[in-house]
Amino acid sequence: MSKSFKTFLKHTAKDFHNQSVNPPVVRASTIIFKSMQHLRKTQAKAKKNPIGGHYDYGRQGTSTTYILQKILTKLEESYHVFTTPTGFGSVFLAIFSVVRPGDEMLVADPVYSPTRILTENYLKEFNIHTTFYDPRNLKTLEKFITKKTKLIFVENPGSNTFEFQDLKKIISVAKRKKIFTAIDNTWATPYFFKPIKIGFDMSIVSATKYYSGHSDVMGGSLAVNKKVFNKVKLAEKITGLRLGPDDAYLITRGLRTLDVRLDRHSENAKKVASFLDKNKKIELLYPHKKNSLNYKMWKKYYSGASGLMGLKIKTKISNSVTKFVNSLRLFGYGYSWGGFESLALHQESRETGNRKYMSLEKNEHLVRLHIGLEDPSDLIADLKQALRHLK
Ligand SMILES: Cc1ncc(COP(=O)(O)O)c(C=O)c1O
Repeated sequence: MSKSFKTFLKHTAKDFHNQSVNPPVVRASTIIFKSMQHLRKTQAKAKKNPIGGHYDYGRQGTSTTYILQKILTKLEESYHVFTTPTGFGSVFLAIFSVVRPGDEMLVADPVYSPTRILTENYLKEFNIHTTFYDPRNLKTLEKFITKKTKLIFVENPGSNTFEFQDLKKIISVAKRKKIFTAIDNTWATPYFFKPIKIGFDMSIVSATKYYSGHSDVMGGSLAVNKKVFNKVKLAEKITGLRLGPDDAYLITRGLRTLDVRLDRHSENAKKVASFLDKNKKIELLYPHKKNSLNYKMWKKYYSGASGLMGLKIKTKISNSVTKFVNSLRLFGYGYSWGGFESLALHQESRETGNRKYMSLEKNEHLVRLHIGLEDPSDLIADLKQALRHLK
């Protein structure tokens, strides 16, 4: 019987093992075999079927990580999903798998700032050069491609400034020029958008966010197509970037309610967005305005929007932005997002990165809100009282 993904997420235990409702946490460094022949036979099976869950050492994973990878592979509709100790580990693994000294990369200008630091500064020391393209003007992308370009790294929407790009255009250029593609899809997760299906080679999700959903675990996933599988498999082996079983268990548990939570985050964010949109001091960075390019690009590829949004505020009295944020009572102040709770962050310039195209103008401020699962009318009331301080 074919099942919808919502049903599949609730029945993962039945699908993958036959014991408790939740899969057991299998912790291992050493894996004991019945004999040397048994050990060698397992190694041969792993060689023949590298995604079959055959392990001879704990660093390769255990049945707990295998179950998570199987669930995510189904969610992504990909060839395989690698799981890493953090989302940033997956960013690194994607790049490390296909880029070599002497190669060049194209990266979206408003990329997550640690990804920017890695590509702009650190990789330069390894003779890997990055050019940042303007996500609102994909002509710059084509202009920057050289014979050395190996990878186009997209993040959609852009971190903090939330631009949505025409993704199929990027893929068609990359395919024509034989360049690998990777996308950071943490904002939407494959619940709202499946990048591998439209032609990306690699798709990254920080499992720290919506997958786990409870702000108590770090993890990452890197979905791949068949074309790049062997390259990523080798890089995974070389770097040892693999998720541990306890974290895999928590992420698997979080995934049971991914659809329920994301639908609710989306509903709440929509209500908060329509309240904030009425405020003249705020430019809302969220796909909500039907005639905007961002909305059109979002609608073209996504079946829903998550709970993360930005507010661009123009004021000469910067202190009043701090006062507004500090007056919020139901929003926590802190990094990350994707948990059940609402969060607010007044972004500093170092957090928006050293951008070329998407930099803030004088007197512009960015506030990032994560809209959680609380009652949206309470969140709106809280924002309303705090916004009185914005001058
Ligand atoms: C868009 C995006 N990608 C990747 C990451 C990195 O994930 P992690 O914190 O799990 O390393 C983050 C974290 O904030 C993020 O916002």
